[in-house]
Amino acid sequence: MFERNRSAEIVADSFSNTENERLREILVSLVQHLHAFAKDVELGQGELDAGIDFLTRTGQKCDDTRQEFVLLSDILGLSMLVDSIDNDRGEKTTDSTVLGPFHMVQSPVRQLGETIALAEGGVPTLVTGQVLSADGDELPGAVVDVWQADENGFYDVQIPEQVPERNLRGLFACDNNGKFAFRTILPAAYPIPQDGPVGQLLTATARHPYRPAHIHFIVEADGYASLTTHIFVAGSPYLDSDAVFGVKESLVLEFAECTDAALAAEYDMPVPFRHAHVEIRLAKAK
Ligand code: BEZ
Ligand code: FE
Repeated sequence: MFERNRSAEIVADSFSNTENERLREILVSLVQHLHAFAKDVELGQGELDAGIDFLTRTGQKCDDTRQEFVLLSDILGLSMLVDSIDNDRGEKTTDSTVLGPFHMVQSPVRQLGETIALAEGGVPTLVTGQVLSADGDELPGAVVDVWQADENGFYDVQIPEQVPERNLRGLFACDNNGKFAFRTILPAAYPIPQDGPVGQLLTATARHPYRPAHIHFIVEADGYASLTTHIFVAGSPYLDSDAVFGVKESLVLEFAECTDAALAAEYDMPVPFRHAHVEIRLAKAK
């Protein structure tokens, strides 16, 4: 029988026959926190209905190319919290951050030094880097998958009629020293999708939807844990107020103006260009 003072305990007991230990642990804790929350704010029926309606619309907004629940988790900081719980890699490895919803298509394989910018416009930018172990061993054969927004803050999949397919995406196999390089354009800060329930929540709470300028990376090497991360452009707006809380200081890099004629010639860059160099250190696979 229901008793308000023991509500969480009563529901938790209903899970006592759950064979999967971890499932039981998660459900019991979820119910305890959910009931404590409802009691704390003295949740009314109209508010519960509004919450259910919000979650229903969140689900209805999802399809093959749109994941509104991931976006909700992102703006609530849950994605970053889980990332930090799940990716405790030690101090000497590169920090991870959110995957985001725009890695929805396979990046095209490109040669080292090739450009990922297939459309006109943007500030010419060279990204060079090296993939290493935590102890600094070079990782030949590491694979670097990159994707980014354009100079107006749009991913190719958001403006398919305006840019070539797979614009600003590339999959690069590192050289024998774990080094990689690609040409691109300087990414811009951009708003996360606002045309759904998550956008309404941001508006209702007077929060802005912007992310600071960044380039996404997934880096893989045999025997090492896959790393999902970004590099952020130093000086970009919103570094201190990323809508999805994804910024870590270690991931903010200078995209410095460069006039190095030898480097420009090596990568066929117009002078001046922006240059960022990133060292990526992977943790051993568990
Ligand atoms: C992104 O950086 O692509 C992103 C991450 C989280 C939410 C929306 C966009
Ligand atoms: Fe992004």
